[in-house]
Amino acid sequence: MSSQFETVPLGKTDLRVSPLGLGVWQWGDTMMWGYGKGYGEADLRPVFDVTLDAGVNFIDTAEMYGRGRSETLLGQFVQQAGVRDRLVIATKFAPLPWRLSPNRLIQALRNSLNRLGLSRVDLYQIHFPFSPIPVEIWMEALAKAVEAGLTRAVGVSNYSPSQTMRAHAALARYGIPLASNQVEYSLLDRKPETSGLVKVCRDLGVTLIAYSPIAKGMLTGKYTPDNVPPGMRGRMYNRQYLGKIQPLIGLLNEIGQAHGVANSAKTPSQVSLNWLICKGAVPIPGAKNLGQAQENLGALGWRLTDEEVARLDEASDKVNSSQ
Ligand SMILES: NC(=O)c1ccc[n+]([C@@H]2O[C@H](COP(=O)([O-])OP(=O)(O)OC[C@H]3O[C@@H](n4cnc5c(N)ncnc54)[C@H](OP(=O)(O)O)[C@@H]3O)[C@@H](O)[C@H]2O)c1
Repeated sequence: MSSQFETVPLGKTDLRVSPLGLGVWQWGDTMMWGYGKGYGEADLRPVFDVTLDAGVNFIDTAEMYGRGRSETLLGQFVQQAGVRDRLVIATKFAPLPWRLSPNRLIQALRNSLNRLGLSRVDLYQIHFPFSPIPVEIWMEALAKAVEAGLTRAVGVSNYSPSQTMRAHAALARYGIPLASNQVEYSLLDRKPETSGLVKVCRDLGVTLIAYSPIAKGMLTGKYTPDNVPPGMRGRMYNRQYLGKIQPLIGLLNEIGQAHGVANSAKTPSQVSLNWLICKGAVPIPGAKNLGQAQENLGALGWRLTDEEVARLDEASDKVNSSQ
């Protein structure tokens, strides 16, 4: 299938990614997502296939997801489909408290590569900042990973504006661009805008990758005060909160109607993901089954107007300021 969108550069690297990627935390994770209960491997292969068919080439995993199961499943699907060359595969290093030396990063990357069945990933990211170890030490380790040919590009995740600037400067000493910073960003979490991170990334030419772009399912509109999400998410997003977001869901539906073709309006998820694309971020929604993946892919190939983006900003400000 030919794609209906242009790829975008990943930071100042020579890699190009689709304006929307796929996050695969759900693949193997039992704690947050309940892998094995209601969905499993047989549901995920179609997610992978439909994503590639739509021309999406960017897939994000991490060594922590499902304790390596996410990487193993992704590697399995890539091998079976024989599509390595078409993909930009990103994974992450977790700087856990007992991993105190940069050599641990190279060892962890080799373990990730074994699970993925690859000789090299495209993007290797530090999953979160770990303050006792200076940013510069991890950047030195990332530079070694590039020099060893284990990754094509490097990035960070959950880094503040100042940590991002430090990471960028530290890598520049090795002649390596900081490709990306992956942070939580959605209509229900605008911290990257208020903290100045969006501006810092734009100024430095660092791609902002938006995780939890549909707020872990809350922006789909399917969760309401009478239908609270199961498990840990039910504590993060309670009845009261779900009540507060209903006007925003109403606006997502209204705007989605305006973009519908032939009886099929754009859904709240699609409008929410398109809003992020309009903001210059690359959202990486997760999906548990074919239907969810297909729906999220419908965020591509069209664009909200500036006025719609402004109306969504305003409605989201109202939710976020009332917390
Ligand atoms: N770097 C980090 O620290 C970090 C942290 C979090 C996530 N991430 C990355 O970002 C990716 C996405 O974030 P996320 O998984 O937290 O949240 P998300 O993409 O905002 O939400 C995903 C969840 O929403 C529901 N959903 C998705 N599409 C749907 C649809 N079209 N209709 C109805 N329900 C739908 C599904 O859960 P239900 O069906 O159970 O509702 C799905 O598991 C992850 O996979 C991971 O790669 C990174």
